[in-house]
Amino acid sequence: MDQGTPGELAGRHILLGITGGIAAYKTPDLVRKLRGAGADVCVVTSAGAQQFVSSTALQAVSGRAVRHSLWDEAAEAAMGHIELARWADTVLIAPATANCIAKLARGQADDLLTTLCLATTAALVVAPAMNVRMWQHPATQSNVALLAERGAHLLGPAEGEQACGEYGPGRMVEPADICKALTSIDPGQAVLGPHATDPADNSLAGVNVLITAGPTREPIDPVRYISNRSSGKQGYALATEAARMGATVTLVSGPTALPVPPGVKRIDVLSAQDMLTAVESQLDQTDLFIGVAAVADYRVAAVANEKIKKTASTRDGITLDLVTNPDIIATVAATAGGPITVGFAAETHKGLEHARGKLERKGLDMIALNDVSDQRIGFSSDANALTILWSDGEQQVPMQTKAAIARSLLSKVVELFNPRLSVRSPTP
Ligand code: CTP
Repeated sequence: MDQGTPGELAGRHILLGITGGIAAYKTPDLVRKLRGAGADVCVVTSAGAQQFVSSTALQAVSGRAVRHSLWDEAAEAAMGHIELARWADTVLIAPATANCIAKLARGQADDLLTTLCLATTAALVVAPAMNVRMWQHPATQSNVALLAERGAHLLGPAEGEQACGEYGPGRMVEPADICKALTSIDPGQAVLGPHATDPADNSLAGVNVLITAGPTREPIDPVRYISNRSSGKQGYALATEAARMGATVTLVSGPTALPVPPGVKRIDVLSAQDMLTAVESQLDQTDLFIGVAAVADYRVAAVANEKIKKTASTRDGITLDLVTNPDIIATVAATAGGPITVGFAAETHKGLEHARGKLERKGLDMIALNDVSDQRIGFSSDANALTILWSDGEQQVPMQTKAAIARSLLSKVVELFNPRLSVRSPTP
């Protein structure tokens, strides 16, 4: 068993909650890696977890007695559950079953682990593992979204072959990756804050934010168009979080199935040219522009006024002439006295190289790289992972829901560009 990189988690107090999934068999290895990286680990198992992994093994690798009951007098006398909740700076639940996630979302406290989760102010990190259909069930998805909204960090699930014989998302993220992800999660980030849900986080108060989201639709004739698979979810999540952080937000949106986020003004558009016109109409009063839209690079040169019919001349195929669309974000970045500009780069290969190229070529202040070759963070997914790049730095944002990703990205914008944002929009 490999150990984690020494020192990476030095001084951290990790309470590892294990629930009843087959991936629990990997947890002794996870404990070894966490301890190898310097963390102090205390293990709490649910009743289901005890069917999959032995307390003896977990005690041997963690160096501490494994806790499993609220009613264990000897354990409570040594360190009561409230004391344990205070001791932890991070509660990591791996694997987290659908049932455990549902209980956390409801705030239920019917065993030691769920009680600790309510009693702690530590960061909550959840690594789900379950059958693919259980993961995709709307109940699980809305429970996960609720947890993320409260500030929980979600790791995975990973996609692949499952113990039940099915294939898809539902595998627990590998212990080495969990260990690595913990190094970039701030300890002590409480489930109920201090994320954007914390009313005290007003770091975008007085800032006018303009966001493009969704796909564009380029007409061919009155009934057909060229478009792409963008769902708009990441752009809408950014609009929602920016508004929660006190910004005045305008969302220029291509066609999506998503509702208007609370407190956000939405301008609906179809084509890239319409999107540019709408953006330009708002530029005067914009301090921060975030281009998340998947803008079609080309449009049909001559859109037919009538539906194109199959005739003798078109039966064997037709050729569409495409012309290049305007680059919206590059236009914004080139505007004298324009806003801070943040772009997105969806890449399948050589991501860092392409993203940095776009940052420089388009004259942006920051760009967020999305590796769209990773099936788990696809276009319609609720999860995402990013690498944020700016002129002289970069930062990984581990896999989380799109809402949590939005908060991380906006916090980074505030951290790097706050002086420029404040000069543009002095706080009254
Ligand atoms: N973008 C834009 N207008 C365009 C094309 C892209 O505003 N006509 C913005 C996107 O909203 C995103 C960034 O530019 O913020 C990068 O988009 P992407 O499609 O990845 O880049 P392209 O310049 O189209 O490069 P390529 O298609 O070669 O990857």
